[in-house]
Amino acid sequence: MQAEYVLGRERETSRRQIETEQRTRAAQQAAVAELGQLALTGADVASVMDHATRLVTQTLGAEFCQILEPSADAHALVLKAGVGWNPRTIGHSLSSSPLDSQAGYTLLSNEPVVVEDLRTERRFRAATFLAEHGVVSGVTVLVRGRDKPLDVLGVHSSRPRAFTRSDINFVQAVANVLTSAIERKSDEEALRKSEATARAFLESAAEGIIIVNRRGQIVLVNAQTEAMFGYRRGELIGRPLELLLPESVRDAHVRHRTSYFAEPRVRQMSRELVLAGRRRDGTEFPVEISLSYVQTPDGLQAMAFVTDITQRVELQRAARQTEKLAALGTLAAGIAHEINNPLGIISSRIEVMLLEAESEPLPQSLVDDLLTVHKHAERVARIAQGLLSFSRQSSTEHVPIDLNGIVDDTILLARGQIEKGGVTIRITFAAALPPVRGNANGLSEVVLNLLTNAHDAMPEGGEVSVETGVDDKDRAWVWMTVTDTGHGMDADTLARIFDPFYTTKPTGTGLGLSIAYGIVRDHGGTITAESTRGHGTRFLVRLPVSALEPMG
Ligand SMILES: Nc1ncnc2c1ncn2[C@@H]1O[C@H](COP(=O)(O)OP(=O)(O)O)[C@@H](O)[C@H]1O
Ligand SMILES: [Mg+2]
Repeated sequence: MQAEYVLGRERETSRRQIETEQRTRAAQQAAVAELGQLALTGADVASVMDHATRLVTQTLGAEFCQILEPSADAHALVLKAGVGWNPRTIGHSLSSSPLDSQAGYTLLSNEPVVVEDLRTERRFRAATFLAEHGVVSGVTVLVRGRDKPLDVLGVHSSRPRAFTRSDINFVQAVANVLTSAIERKSDEEALRKSEATARAFLESAAEGIIIVNRRGQIVLVNAQTEAMFGYRRGELIGRPLELLLPESVRDAHVRHRTSYFAEPRVRQMSRELVLAGRRRDGTEFPVEISLSYVQTPDGLQAMAFVTDITQRVELQRAARQTEKLAALGTLAAGIAHEINNPLGIISSRIEVMLLEAESEPLPQSLVDDLLTVHKHAERVARIAQGLLSFSRQSSTEHVPIDLNGIVDDTILLARGQIEKGGVTIRITFAAALPPVRGNANGLSEVVLNLLTNAHDAMPEGGEVSVETGVDDKDRAWVWMTVTDTGHGMDADTLARIFDPFYTTKPTGTGLGLSIAYGIVRDHGGTITAESTRGHGTRFLVRLPVSALEPMG
Protein backbone atom coordinates (compact mmCIF):
# COMPACT_ATOMS: atom_id res chain seq x y z
CA MET A 1 0.00 0.00 0.00
CA GLN A 2 2.76 2.25 1.11
CA ALA A 3 4.90 1.32 -1.87
CA GLU A 4 2.02 1.82 -4.20
CA TYR A 5 1.47 5.27 -2.83
CA VAL A 6 5.10 6.16 -3.37
CA LEU A 7 4.99 4.80 -6.91
CA GLY A 8 1.86 6.77 -7.56
CA ARG A 9 3.48 9.91 -6.23
CA GLU A 10 6.53 9.36 -8.40
CA ARG A 11 4.32 8.88 -11.44
CA GLU A 12 2.49 12.02 -10.46
CA THR A 13 5.78 13.93 -10.20
CA SER A 14 7.11 12.78 -13.57
CA ARG A 15 3.76 13.52 -15.20
CA ARG A 16 3.94 17.06 -13.81
CA GLN A 17 7.54 17.29 -14.93
CA ILE A 18 6.62 16.29 -18.46
CA GLU A 19 3.79 18.76 -18.49
CA THR A 20 6.07 21.56 -17.26
CA GLU A 21 8.64 20.67 -19.86
CA GLN A 22 6.01 20.71 -22.57
CA ARG A 23 4.76 24.09 -21.40
CA THR A 24 8.30 25.45 -21.34
CA ARG A 25 9.04 24.12 -24.81
CA ALA A 26 5.81 25.60 -26.14
CA ALA A 27 6.67 28.97 -24.58
CA GLN A 28 10.13 28.78 -26.13
CA GLN A 29 8.74 27.92 -29.53
CA ALA A 30 6.28 30.78 -29.30
CA ALA A 31 9.08 33.16 -28.38
CA VAL A 32 11.17 32.10 -31.38
CA ALA A 33 8.15 32.42 -33.66
CA GLU A 34 7.41 35.89 -32.33
CA LEU A 35 10.96 37.02 -32.90
CA GLY A 36 11.00 35.49 -36.38
CA GLN A 37 7.86 37.41 -37.19
CA LEU A 38 9.46 40.67 -36.10
CA ALA A 39 12.56 40.01 -38.18
CA LEU A 40 10.44 39.16 -41.21
CA THR A 41 8.52 42.42 -41.12
CA GLY A 42 11.85 44.14 -41.78
CA ALA A 43 12.31 45.71 -38.34
CA ASP A 44 15.77 47.20 -37.88
CA VAL A 45 18.44 44.99 -36.42
CA ALA A 46 18.74 46.94 -33.16
CA SER A 47 15.09 46.46 -32.25
CA VAL A 48 15.19 42.77 -33.19
CA MET A 49 18.20 42.42 -30.86
CA ASP A 50 16.46 44.29 -28.05
CA HIS A 51 13.41 42.15 -28.42
CA ALA A 52 15.49 38.99 -28.51
CA THR A 53 17.27 39.78 -25.23
CA ARG A 54 13.98 40.49 -23.49
CA LEU A 55 12.32 37.32 -24.83
CA VAL A 56 15.25 35.17 -23.80
CA THR A 57 15.38 36.45 -20.20
CA GLN A 58 11.61 36.18 -19.80
CA THR A 59 11.33 32.75 -21.33
CA LEU A 60 14.24 31.25 -19.40
CA GLY A 61 13.58 33.17 -16.19
CA ALA A 62 17.14 34.51 -16.18
CA GLU A 63 18.23 37.99 -15.14
CA PHE A 64 20.81 38.73 -17.82
CA CYS A 65 21.07 38.51 -21.56
CA GLN A 66 23.70 39.98 -23.86
CA ILE A 67 24.54 40.24 -27.53
CA LEU A 68 28.23 40.86 -28.15
CA GLU A 69 29.75 41.75 -31.48
CA PRO A 70 33.45 41.39 -32.32
CA SER A 71 34.89 44.79 -33.31
CA ALA A 72 36.25 45.23 -36.85
CA ASP A 73 39.79 44.37 -35.70
CA ALA A 74 38.43 41.49 -33.56
CA HIS A 75 40.30 42.86 -30.55
CA ALA A 76 37.22 43.88 -28.61
CA LEU A 77 33.64 42.80 -28.07
CA VAL A 78 30.95 45.44 -28.23
CA LEU A 79 27.76 45.05 -26.20
CA LYS A 80 25.10 45.59 -28.89
CA ALA A 81 22.05 44.86 -26.76
CA GLY A 82 21.34 43.49 -23.32
CA VAL A 83 19.08 43.09 -20.35
CA GLY A 84 20.07 43.28 -16.68
CA TRP A 85 23.41 45.09 -17.15
CA ASN A 86 24.42 48.54 -16.17
CA PRO A 87 22.62 50.49 -18.96
CA ARG A 88 25.68 52.66 -19.61
CA THR A 89 27.58 49.64 -20.94
CA ILE A 90 25.26 49.15 -23.94
CA GLY A 91 27.04 50.19 -27.12
CA HIS A 92 30.49 50.02 -25.52
CA SER A 93 33.24 47.54 -25.84
CA LEU A 94 33.81 45.28 -22.89
CA SER A 95 36.91 43.66 -21.42
CA SER A 96 40.33 44.48 -22.72
CA SER A 97 41.13 40.87 -23.55
CA PRO A 98 37.79 39.75 -24.94
CA LEU A 99 38.95 36.39 -26.23
CA ASP A 100 39.88 35.44 -22.70
CA SER A 101 36.22 35.23 -21.62
CA GLN A 102 33.15 33.09 -22.04
CA ALA A 103 32.07 35.03 -25.14
CA GLY A 104 35.57 34.85 -26.61
CA TYR A 105 35.72 31.15 -25.86
CA THR A 106 32.37 30.74 -27.64
CA LEU A 107 33.71 32.49 -30.73
CA LEU A 108 36.58 30.00 -30.80
CA SER A 109 34.73 26.86 -29.85
CA ASN A 110 31.97 27.30 -32.42
CA GLU A 111 29.31 25.61 -30.27
CA PRO A 112 27.15 26.48 -27.27
CA VAL A 113 29.16 27.01 -24.09
CA VAL A 114 27.35 26.14 -20.88
CA VAL A 115 28.64 27.35 -17.52
CA GLU A 116 27.04 26.08 -14.35
CA ASP A 117 29.26 27.99 -11.96
CA LEU A 118 31.64 30.64 -13.21
CA ARG A 119 33.62 30.53 -9.99
CA THR A 120 34.84 27.01 -10.69
CA GLU A 121 35.21 27.45 -14.45
CA ARG A 122 38.52 26.16 -15.86
CA ARG A 123 38.20 26.63 -19.64
CA PHE A 124 38.53 30.43 -19.57
CA ARG A 125 38.75 33.23 -17.09
CA ALA A 126 35.54 34.89 -15.99
CA ALA A 127 35.19 38.25 -17.66
CA THR A 128 35.32 41.07 -15.14
CA PHE A 129 32.14 42.35 -16.70
CA LEU A 130 30.21 39.21 -15.74
CA ALA A 131 31.83 39.01 -12.33
CA GLU A 132 30.97 42.64 -11.58
CA HIS A 133 27.34 41.89 -12.15
CA GLY A 134 27.47 38.80 -9.96
CA VAL A 135 26.91 36.35 -12.82
CA VAL A 136 27.32 32.73 -11.80
CA SER A 137 25.89 30.60 -14.60
CA GLY A 138 25.00 30.98 -18.25
CA VAL A 139 24.84 29.74 -21.82
CA THR A 140 26.49 31.46 -24.76
CA VAL A 141 25.91 30.58 -28.42
CA LEU A 142 27.20 31.89 -31.73
CA VAL A 143 25.13 34.05 -34.02
CA ARG A 144 26.61 32.47 -37.12
CA GLY A 145 26.94 34.50 -40.33
CA ARG A 146 27.28 33.21 -43.88
CA ASP A 147 31.04 33.49 -43.78
CA LYS A 148 31.97 34.55 -40.23
CA PRO A 149 30.54 34.58 -36.71
CA LEU A 150 28.45 37.74 -36.36
CA ASP A 151 27.76 37.91 -32.64
CA VAL A 152 27.67 35.97 -29.40
CA LEU A 153 24.30 35.65 -27.67
CA GLY A 154 24.51 34.93 -23.96
CA VAL A 155 21.97 34.34 -21.22
CA HIS A 156 23.19 34.46 -17.63
CA SER A 157 22.00 34.12 -14.08
CA SER A 158 23.32 35.12 -10.69
CA ARG A 159 22.36 31.68 -9.30
CA PRO A 160 24.03 28.37 -10.08
CA ARG A 161 21.74 26.86 -12.65
CA ALA A 162 21.64 23.91 -14.99
CA PHE A 163 20.50 24.54 -18.55
CA THR A 164 18.57 21.76 -20.28
CA ARG A 165 19.15 20.64 -23.86
CA SER A 166 15.90 22.33 -24.74
CA ASP A 167 17.04 25.62 -23.12
CA ILE A 168 20.25 25.51 -25.14
CA ASN A 169 18.36 24.71 -28.33
CA PHE A 170 16.07 27.63 -27.61
CA VAL A 171 18.95 30.09 -27.21
CA GLN A 172 20.52 28.77 -30.41
CA ALA A 173 17.20 29.14 -32.27
CA VAL A 174 16.99 32.77 -31.17
CA ALA A 175 20.56 33.27 -32.36
CA ASN A 176 19.59 31.83 -35.74
CA VAL A 177 16.72 34.28 -36.06
CA LEU A 178 19.22 37.05 -35.32
CA THR A 179 21.47 35.70 -38.09
CA SER A 180 18.74 35.95 -40.66
CA ALA A 181 17.67 39.42 -39.47
CA ILE A 182 21.24 40.75 -39.64
CA GLU A 183 22.11 39.19 -42.97
CA ARG A 184 18.85 40.23 -44.52
CA LYS A 185 19.50 43.84 -43.49
CA SER A 186 23.04 43.82 -44.78
CA ASP A 187 21.89 42.25 -48.06
CA GLU A 188 19.27 44.96 -48.38
CA GLU A 189 21.85 47.58 -47.56
CA ALA A 190 24.25 46.20 -50.14
CA LEU A 191 21.51 46.12 -52.73
CA ARG A 192 20.44 49.65 -51.93
CA LYS A 193 24.02 50.82 -52.14
CA SER A 194 24.63 49.15 -55.47
CA GLU A 195 21.36 50.51 -56.80
CA ALA A 196 22.29 54.01 -55.64
CA THR A 197 25.69 53.67 -57.27
CA ALA A 198 24.19 52.46 -60.52
CA ARG A 199 21.68 55.32 -60.47
CA ALA A 200 24.43 57.87 -59.80
CA PHE A 201 26.44 56.53 -62.75
CA LEU A 202 23.37 56.62 -64.93
CA GLU A 203 22.51 60.19 -64.01
CA SER A 204 26.00 61.55 -64.40
CA ALA A 205 26.60 59.94 -67.78
CA ALA A 206 27.44 62.37 -70.56
CA GLU A 207 25.15 60.48 -72.92
CA GLY A 208 21.45 60.19 -72.85
CA ILE A 209 20.60 56.66 -71.66
CA ILE A 210 17.27 55.14 -72.61
CA ILE A 211 16.13 51.65 -71.64
CA VAL A 212 13.37 50.08 -73.67
CA ASN A 213 11.45 46.85 -73.21
CA ARG A 214 10.61 44.30 -75.84
CA ARG A 215 7.41 46.14 -76.75
CA GLY A 216 9.40 49.30 -77.43
CA GLN A 217 8.16 51.10 -74.35
CA ILE A 218 10.54 53.37 -72.52
CA VAL A 219 11.33 51.89 -69.12
CA LEU A 220 13.95 54.28 -67.85
CA VAL A 221 15.73 57.47 -68.93
CA ASN A 222 18.44 59.54 -67.26
CA ALA A 223 18.66 63.28 -66.67
CA GLN A 224 20.72 63.80 -69.82
CA THR A 225 17.93 62.33 -71.93
CA GLU A 226 15.48 64.75 -70.35
CA ALA A 227 17.72 67.69 -71.16
CA MET A 228 18.46 66.50 -74.70
CA PHE A 229 14.87 65.87 -75.76
CA GLY A 230 13.07 68.44 -73.59
CA TYR A 231 10.76 65.94 -71.88
CA ARG A 232 10.32 65.27 -68.16
CA ARG A 233 10.90 61.58 -67.46
CA GLY A 234 7.30 61.12 -66.35
CA GLU A 235 6.25 62.03 -69.88
CA LEU A 236 8.48 59.33 -71.38
CA ILE A 237 8.14 56.26 -69.15
CA GLY A 238 5.73 53.79 -70.74
CA ARG A 239 5.63 55.69 -74.04
CA PRO A 240 6.95 54.17 -77.29
CA LEU A 241 10.57 54.94 -78.03
CA GLU A 242 9.55 56.27 -81.46
CA LEU A 243 8.27 59.39 -79.71
CA LEU A 244 11.89 60.53 -79.74
CA LEU A 245 12.36 60.04 -83.49
CA PRO A 246 11.33 62.16 -86.48
CA GLU A 247 7.93 61.10 -87.81
CA SER A 248 9.38 60.09 -91.16
CA VAL A 249 11.45 57.25 -89.68
CA ARG A 250 9.08 55.95 -86.99
CA ASP A 251 7.57 53.07 -88.95
CA ALA A 252 10.93 51.90 -90.19
CA HIS A 253 12.24 52.08 -86.65
CA VAL A 254 9.49 49.85 -85.27
CA ARG A 255 10.61 47.14 -87.74
CA HIS A 256 14.22 47.79 -86.86
CA ARG A 257 13.49 47.45 -83.17
CA THR A 258 11.54 44.23 -83.61
CA SER A 259 14.37 42.61 -85.48
CA TYR A 260 16.83 43.87 -82.89
CA PHE A 261 14.96 42.12 -80.10
CA ALA A 262 14.75 38.97 -82.22
CA GLU A 263 18.52 38.91 -82.41
CA PRO A 264 19.99 41.33 -79.87
CA ARG A 265 23.64 42.30 -80.10
CA VAL A 266 25.88 45.07 -78.93
CA ARG A 267 26.17 47.74 -81.55
CA GLN A 268 28.93 50.31 -81.28
CA MET A 269 28.56 53.92 -82.17
CA SER A 270 28.94 54.15 -85.88
CA ARG A 271 30.41 57.40 -87.02
CA GLU A 272 28.94 56.93 -90.47
CA LEU A 273 25.43 56.31 -89.28
CA VAL A 274 24.05 59.65 -88.16
CA LEU A 275 20.48 59.43 -86.99
CA ALA A 276 18.09 62.15 -86.03
CA GLY A 277 16.37 62.74 -82.71
CA ARG A 278 13.19 64.71 -82.25
CA ARG A 279 12.70 67.07 -79.33
CA ARG A 280 9.42 67.75 -77.56
CA ASP A 281 9.02 70.98 -79.53
CA GLY A 282 9.32 69.04 -82.81
CA THR A 283 12.81 70.22 -83.73
CA GLU A 284 15.25 67.59 -84.90
CA PHE A 285 18.92 67.18 -84.19
CA PRO A 286 21.65 64.77 -85.27
CA VAL A 287 22.45 61.96 -82.84
CA GLU A 288 24.77 59.02 -82.58
CA ILE A 289 23.45 55.88 -80.95
CA SER A 290 25.04 52.76 -79.56
CA LEU A 291 23.01 49.84 -78.35
CA SER A 292 23.35 47.03 -75.91
CA TYR A 293 20.92 44.77 -74.11
CA VAL A 294 20.29 43.35 -70.66
CA GLN A 295 18.34 40.32 -69.52
CA THR A 296 16.23 41.56 -66.60
CA PRO A 297 13.63 39.85 -64.40
CA ASP A 298 11.11 41.77 -66.55
CA GLY A 299 12.49 40.29 -69.76
CA LEU A 300 14.98 41.40 -72.35
CA GLN A 301 15.57 45.14 -72.42
CA ALA A 302 17.61 47.23 -74.81
CA MET A 303 19.77 50.09 -73.66
CA ALA A 304 20.54 52.97 -76.01
CA PHE A 305 23.30 55.51 -75.43
CA VAL A 306 22.45 58.70 -77.27
CA THR A 307 24.92 61.47 -78.05
CA ASP A 308 23.85 64.83 -79.43
CA ILE A 309 26.33 65.57 -82.22
CA THR A 310 24.92 68.89 -83.43
CA GLN A 311 28.15 70.63 -82.59
CA ARG A 312 30.37 68.07 -84.20
CA VAL A 313 28.35 68.06 -87.40
CA GLU A 314 28.52 71.86 -87.44
CA LEU A 315 32.28 71.84 -86.92
CA GLN A 316 32.78 69.27 -89.66
CA ARG A 317 30.69 71.36 -92.02
CA ALA A 318 32.68 74.48 -91.19
CA ALA A 319 35.95 72.61 -91.66
CA ARG A 320 34.84 71.37 -95.09
CA GLN A 321 33.83 74.88 -96.03
CA THR A 322 37.19 76.26 -94.95
CA GLU A 323 39.00 73.61 -96.93
CA LYS A 324 36.94 74.34 -100.00
CA LEU A 325 37.59 78.03 -99.68
CA ALA A 326 41.29 77.63 -99.13
CA ALA A 327 41.72 75.45 -102.19
CA LEU A 328 39.68 77.83 -104.22
CA GLY A 329 41.42 80.93 -102.92
CA THR A 330 44.73 79.98 -104.49
CA LEU A 331 43.12 79.09 -107.76
CA ALA A 332 40.98 82.23 -107.74
CA ALA A 333 43.92 84.52 -107.27
CA GLY A 334 45.67 82.97 -110.27
CA ILE A 335 42.68 83.15 -112.52
CA ALA A 336 41.75 86.68 -111.52
CA HIS A 337 45.25 87.77 -112.31
CA GLU A 338 45.21 86.11 -115.73
CA ILE A 339 41.82 87.52 -116.61
CA ASN A 340 42.34 91.08 -115.40
CA ASN A 341 44.93 92.11 -118.00
CA PRO A 342 43.21 90.91 -121.20
CA LEU A 343 39.89 92.09 -119.78
CA GLY A 344 41.28 95.57 -119.23
CA ILE A 345 42.41 95.60 -122.84
CA ILE A 346 39.00 94.39 -124.12
CA SER A 347 37.11 96.94 -122.07
CA SER A 348 39.23 99.91 -122.99
CA ARG A 349 39.24 98.89 -126.69
CA ILE A 350 35.46 98.83 -126.72
CA GLU A 351 35.28 102.15 -124.92
CA VAL A 352 37.61 103.63 -127.57
CA MET A 353 35.48 102.16 -130.38
CA LEU A 354 32.29 103.56 -128.85
CA LEU A 355 33.94 106.95 -128.47
CA GLU A 356 35.08 106.89 -132.11
CA ALA A 357 31.60 105.89 -133.18
CA GLU A 358 30.40 109.28 -132.03
CA SER A 359 32.47 111.06 -134.71
CA GLU A 360 32.52 108.33 -137.39
CA PRO A 361 29.07 106.80 -137.10
CA LEU A 362 28.88 102.97 -137.14
CA PRO A 363 25.81 100.92 -138.00
CA GLN A 364 23.44 100.93 -134.98
CA SER A 365 23.48 97.12 -134.78
CA LEU A 366 27.24 97.20 -134.41
CA VAL A 367 26.98 99.83 -131.65
CA ASP A 368 24.42 97.65 -129.88
CA ASP A 369 26.77 94.65 -130.11
CA LEU A 370 29.63 96.70 -128.73
CA LEU A 371 27.45 97.80 -125.81
CA THR A 372 26.49 94.18 -125.10
CA VAL A 373 30.10 93.03 -125.23
CA HIS A 374 31.05 95.90 -122.96
CA LYS A 375 28.31 95.01 -120.44
CA HIS A 376 29.51 91.41 -120.27
CA ALA A 377 33.12 92.43 -120.04
CA GLU A 378 32.14 94.52 -117.03
CA ARG A 379 30.48 91.51 -115.53
CA VAL A 380 33.58 89.41 -116.02
CA ALA A 381 35.55 92.22 -114.42
CA ARG A 382 33.24 92.09 -111.42
CA ILE A 383 33.78 88.38 -111.08
CA ALA A 384 37.52 88.81 -111.35
CA GLN A 385 37.31 91.52 -108.70
CA GLY A 386 35.30 89.17 -106.52
CA LEU A 387 37.86 86.41 -106.99
CA LEU A 388 40.62 88.76 -105.99
CA SER A 389 38.98 89.93 -102.79
CA PHE A 390 38.08 86.30 -102.11
CA SER A 391 41.71 85.27 -102.19
CA ARG A 392 42.99 88.38 -100.41
CA GLN A 393 41.02 87.97 -97.20
CA SER A 394 43.49 86.67 -94.70
CA SER A 395 46.32 89.09 -95.36
CA THR A 396 44.86 92.20 -93.75
CA GLU A 397 45.78 93.66 -90.39
CA HIS A 398 43.31 93.63 -87.50
CA VAL A 399 42.74 96.59 -85.15
CA PRO A 400 39.99 97.39 -82.60
CA ILE A 401 36.91 98.49 -84.49
CA ASP A 402 33.43 99.69 -83.64
CA LEU A 403 31.01 97.41 -85.43
CA ASN A 404 28.19 99.98 -85.19
CA GLY A 405 30.42 102.47 -86.98
CA ILE A 406 31.13 99.98 -89.77
CA VAL A 407 27.43 99.35 -90.30
CA ASP A 408 26.71 103.10 -90.29
CA ASP A 409 29.43 103.86 -92.85
CA THR A 410 28.42 101.01 -95.12
CA ILE A 411 24.76 101.98 -95.11
CA LEU A 412 25.69 105.60 -95.77
CA LEU A 413 27.48 104.52 -98.94
CA ALA A 414 24.99 101.91 -100.11
CA ARG A 415 21.64 103.29 -98.98
CA GLY A 416 20.76 104.51 -102.49
CA GLN A 417 21.40 101.05 -104.00
CA ILE A 418 19.65 99.11 -101.25
CA GLU A 419 16.55 101.26 -100.94
CA LYS A 420 15.78 100.95 -104.65
CA GLY A 421 12.43 99.30 -105.38
CA GLY A 422 10.62 99.93 -102.11
CA VAL A 423 13.12 98.45 -99.63
CA THR A 424 13.53 100.24 -96.33
CA ILE A 425 16.41 99.87 -93.89
CA ARG A 426 15.92 99.75 -90.13
CA ILE A 427 18.83 99.93 -87.74
CA THR A 428 18.88 98.98 -84.06
CA PHE A 429 22.27 99.47 -82.47
CA ALA A 430 23.27 98.26 -79.05
CA ALA A 431 24.51 101.14 -76.95
CA ALA A 432 28.08 100.72 -75.72
CA LEU A 433 29.09 97.89 -78.00
CA PRO A 434 32.60 96.76 -77.12
CA PRO A 435 35.07 96.95 -80.01
CA VAL A 436 35.82 93.91 -82.12
CA ARG A 437 39.26 93.19 -83.46
CA GLY A 438 39.17 93.38 -87.21
CA ASN A 439 39.64 94.98 -90.53
CA ALA A 440 37.28 97.82 -91.47
CA ASN A 441 37.22 97.14 -95.20
CA GLY A 442 36.61 93.43 -94.71
CA LEU A 443 33.77 93.90 -92.23
CA SER A 444 32.24 96.58 -94.40
CA GLU A 445 32.26 94.15 -97.29
CA VAL A 446 30.44 91.58 -95.15
CA VAL A 447 27.74 94.10 -94.28
CA LEU A 448 27.46 95.23 -97.90
CA ASN A 449 27.10 91.67 -99.21
CA LEU A 450 24.38 90.88 -96.69
CA LEU A 451 22.51 94.08 -97.49
CA THR A 452 22.78 93.50 -101.24
CA ASN A 453 21.47 89.96 -100.91
CA ALA A 454 18.61 91.19 -98.72
CA HIS A 455 17.75 93.74 -101.36
CA ASP A 456 17.90 91.10 -104.11
CA ALA A 457 15.53 88.88 -102.11
CA MET A 458 12.85 91.58 -102.00
CA PRO A 459 12.02 92.49 -105.64
CA GLU A 460 8.58 93.60 -104.49
CA GLY A 461 9.99 95.74 -101.69
CA GLY A 462 10.18 95.05 -97.95
CA GLU A 463 12.34 95.78 -94.98
CA VAL A 464 15.88 94.88 -94.08
CA SER A 465 16.77 95.39 -90.47
CA VAL A 466 20.26 95.44 -89.05
CA GLU A 467 20.79 94.87 -85.36
CA THR A 468 23.87 94.66 -83.17
CA GLY A 469 24.36 93.53 -79.62
CA VAL A 470 26.53 91.81 -77.01
CA ASP A 471 26.02 88.13 -76.29
CA ASP A 472 24.08 87.83 -73.03
CA LYS A 473 25.66 84.57 -72.05
CA ASP A 474 29.21 85.22 -73.14
CA ARG A 475 30.12 88.87 -73.09
CA ALA A 476 33.28 88.17 -75.05
CA TRP A 477 31.19 88.11 -78.23
CA VAL A 478 29.25 90.72 -80.17
CA TRP A 479 26.72 89.91 -82.83
CA MET A 480 25.05 91.48 -85.82
CA THR A 481 21.91 90.25 -87.53
CA VAL A 482 20.70 91.23 -90.97
CA THR A 483 17.08 90.24 -91.39
CA ASP A 484 14.96 90.67 -94.49
CA THR A 485 11.32 90.08 -95.33
CA GLY A 486 12.19 88.64 -98.73
CA HIS A 487 11.43 85.38 -100.53
CA GLY A 488 13.64 83.27 -98.32
CA MET A 489 15.17 79.95 -99.37
CA ASP A 490 14.50 76.26 -99.16
CA ALA A 491 16.76 73.96 -97.15
CA ASP A 492 18.78 72.84 -100.20
CA THR A 493 19.65 76.40 -101.12
CA LEU A 494 20.40 77.29 -97.52
CA ALA A 495 22.87 74.43 -97.33
CA ARG A 496 24.89 75.80 -100.25
CA ILE A 497 24.83 79.58 -99.97
CA PHE A 498 28.38 79.82 -98.64
CA ASP A 499 29.75 77.75 -101.52
CA PRO A 500 31.77 79.85 -103.94
CA PHE A 501 29.94 80.36 -107.28
CA TYR A 502 26.69 79.07 -105.90
CA THR A 503 24.03 81.49 -107.07
CA THR A 504 20.34 81.38 -107.89
CA LYS A 505 20.43 84.77 -109.60
CA PRO A 506 20.68 85.15 -113.38
CA THR A 507 23.45 87.73 -113.04
CA GLY A 508 24.86 86.62 -109.69
CA THR A 509 28.49 85.65 -109.15
CA GLY A 510 27.82 83.43 -106.15
CA LEU A 511 30.86 84.92 -104.44
CA GLY A 512 29.29 87.42 -102.05
CA LEU A 513 28.60 85.04 -99.20
CA SER A 514 31.71 82.93 -99.61
CA ILE A 515 33.74 86.11 -99.36
CA ALA A 516 31.77 87.18 -96.31
CA TYR A 517 32.30 83.73 -94.81
CA GLY A 518 36.05 83.93 -95.35
CA ILE A 519 36.28 87.42 -93.85
CA VAL A 520 34.26 86.53 -90.76
CA ARG A 521 36.29 83.38 -90.27
CA ASP A 522 39.51 85.40 -90.46
CA HIS A 523 38.10 87.52 -87.65
CA GLY A 524 37.65 84.41 -85.53
CA GLY A 525 33.88 84.73 -85.86
CA THR A 526 30.99 82.78 -87.34
CA ILE A 527 28.32 83.55 -89.89
CA THR A 528 25.13 81.53 -90.07
CA ALA A 529 21.78 81.90 -91.74
CA GLU A 530 18.25 80.77 -91.10
CA SER A 531 15.47 81.19 -93.57
CA THR A 532 11.84 80.32 -94.19
CA ARG A 533 10.68 80.16 -97.74
CA GLY A 534 8.25 82.99 -98.44
CA HIS A 535 8.95 84.73 -95.16
CA GLY A 536 12.50 85.99 -95.16
CA THR A 537 16.01 85.32 -94.06
CA ARG A 538 18.18 86.20 -91.10
CA PHE A 539 21.95 86.21 -91.14
CA LEU A 540 23.79 86.14 -87.83
CA VAL A 541 27.41 87.24 -87.61
CA ARG A 542 29.25 86.69 -84.33
CA LEU A 543 32.61 88.31 -83.69
CA PRO A 544 34.97 88.08 -80.71
CA VAL A 545 35.41 91.25 -78.68
CA SER A 546 38.82 92.85 -78.91
CA ALA A 547 40.61 92.17 -75.67
CA LEU A 548 43.37 94.67 -76.26
CA GLU A 549 43.69 98.45 -76.40
CA PRO A 550 40.56 100.62 -76.63
CA MET A 551 39.55 102.11 -79.96
CA GLY A 552 41.80 104.87 -81.29
N1 LIG B 1 18.84 87.34 -98.03
C1 LIG B 1 18.68 86.30 -98.87
N2 LIG B 1 17.47 85.83 -99.16
C2 LIG B 1 17.32 84.78 -99.99
N3 LIG B 1 18.34 84.14 -100.58
C3 LIG B 1 19.58 84.56 -100.33
C4 LIG B 1 19.82 85.64 -99.45
N4 LIG B 1 21.15 85.83 -99.37
C5 LIG B 1 21.71 84.90 -100.18
N5 LIG B 1 20.79 84.13 -100.75
C6 LIG B 1 21.01 83.01 -101.65
O1 LIG B 1 22.38 82.70 -101.63
C7 LIG B 1 22.92 82.70 -102.90
C8 LIG B 1 24.39 83.07 -102.86
O2 LIG B 1 24.55 84.41 -102.44
P1 LIG B 1 25.87 85.16 -102.80
O3 LIG B 1 27.01 84.29 -102.38
O4 LIG B 1 25.82 86.52 -102.23
O5 LIG B 1 25.87 85.17 -104.36
P2 LIG B 1 24.93 86.02 -105.34
O6 LIG B 1 24.31 87.10 -104.51
O7 LIG B 1 25.86 86.50 -106.33
O8 LIG B 1 23.96 85.03 -105.85
C9 LIG B 1 22.04 83.67 -103.66
O9 LIG B 1 22.07 83.42 -105.04
C10 LIG B 1 20.68 83.36 -103.05
O10 LIG B 1 20.11 82.21 -103.64
MG1 LIG C 1 25.34 88.36 -103.21
